[in-house]
Amino acid sequence: MAQVEIKNEGKTIEVPDGSCLVELEGKCGIVFACKAGACGSCKVKVLEGMENLESPNEQEKSGLATFGSDPKERLLCETKIKSGKIVIEY
Ligand code: FES
Repeated sequence: MAQVEIKNEGKTIEVPDGSCLVELEGKCGIVFACKAGACGSCKVKVLEGMENLESPNEQEKSGLATFGSDPKERLLCETKIKSGKIVIEY
């Protein structure tokens, strides 16, 4: 299992290795609206562990070009975690 620490909530959530982080829906305060990389509601900053995430897919790249200005930002509805731990805040 991989771990996602949500720093501003003070909680850590486990998700299966290789899963999309839309898995966090309902388990934390991050809002997932479109789930298609188009609205920016699930944008977070990755504080640690970026190397444990898959590279952005085309939908996420397009969304980040619109909503993200910081290279540490990701759209969780399109982001897959490989394994290990990441630390995020939103
Ligand atoms: S839920 Fe809309 S961009 Fe992720």
